[in-house]
Amino acid sequence: MENHVEDVLILAIESSCDETAASVVKNGREVLSNIINSQIAIHTNYGGVVPEIASRKHIENISPVISMALKEAGVTLNEITVIGVTYGPGLVGALLVGVAMAKAMAFAAKKPLVGVHHIEGHIAANYIENPDLKPPFAALVVSGGHTHLVMVEDYGKYDIIGRTRDDAAGEAFDKVARAVGLGYPGGPKIDKLAKEGNPHAIEFPRANVEDAPYDFSFSGIKSAVLNYLNHCEMKDIKVNKADLVASFQNAVVDALVSRAMLLIDTRHIHQFAIAGGVASNSALRLALQNECAKRNVTFYSPSPKLCTDNAAMIGAAAYYEYIKGTRHGYDLNAIPNLKLGERV
Ligand code: KG4
Ligand code: ZN
Repeated sequence: MENHVEDVLILAIESSCDETAASVVKNGREVLSNIINSQIAIHTNYGGVVPEIASRKHIENISPVISMALKEAGVTLNEITVIGVTYGPGLVGALLVGVAMAKAMAFAAKKPLVGVHHIEGHIAANYIENPDLKPPFAALVVSGGHTHLVMVEDYGKYDIIGRTRDDAAGEAFDKVARAVGLGYPGGPKIDKLAKEGNPHAIEFPRANVEDAPYDFSFSGIKSAVLNYLNHCEMKDIKVNKADLVASFQNAVVDALVSRAMLLIDTRHIHQFAIAGGVASNSALRLALQNECAKRNVTFYSPSPKLCTDNAAMIGAAAYYEYIKGTRHGYDLNAIPNLKLGERV
């Protein structure tokens, strides 16, 4: 492989939830390999992620996944400039596997170590396919554990404008999917079934949070779906699942899009990006794209494979931390509730 001396090659490792992933990223934006070993098939049997099983599977998979990432990129560990790893937020046992591996490799190969915030990684996924995207921009982060509306003021510098008061958007998708009997993970299943349903069949609430126009609340929508299902069961009414999930999805998309557009309109934003697993939702992408187009705002969205958990996004975020001078020691620890923008 052609590499210049000044090229920064990041070996990135991600193990915060149920994906064991490793990637080699050149200069923050060029993905040389992106290996993801998903445990979804295992956790599906339990209706959600079982932390103990996730940790054990990460231990089994991490070495082969890293070897594959290096091999596919055509580089040796020696040629790597820096090792980046997710150290929070996430499941502590799962995070620890990646962090311990990254520390061991950094020590053995005498490479600098950079810890990365998982959500910063999701946002940085936008840099990979959009070489023109630079801060400042607004971003909507919607994953299984987070729902944040943020201003990305600079690389690694965030101002959180709105957040969920209860469930994360992805959590609401997963809980509703389980109630309807679609299984785990619910987001992609609802996305698919909703295409066959009428999004206006049932009117679900769009909860507003008093005095916090940018905050989200999804527990009301979720409860309304559960109440609707109970009501139908008691009255022996057959549920049209496609209509139900299409209407639920429409309510969630509405809530997300309305806050994002309020921010864009109020602060005269010109660039807007989405990030996180729920950002691969087809209805959400379409609605945001249309609303941004109406306002002449450039809309950025990673391709679906880079929206859900992967290590390439961690490599992109690690690059900007590295060139800023961030270095972590061998005492780097997993921080399950690490806050966005917090530096440890
Ligand atoms: O970002 P992610 O892979 O992991 C976390 O950091 O949480 O997000 C996973 C979440 C799950 O809740 C999953 O149901 C949701 O993203 N998701 C989707 C779609 N694909 C994944 N939600 C809605 N529509 C989708 N197409
Ligand atoms: Zn994630």
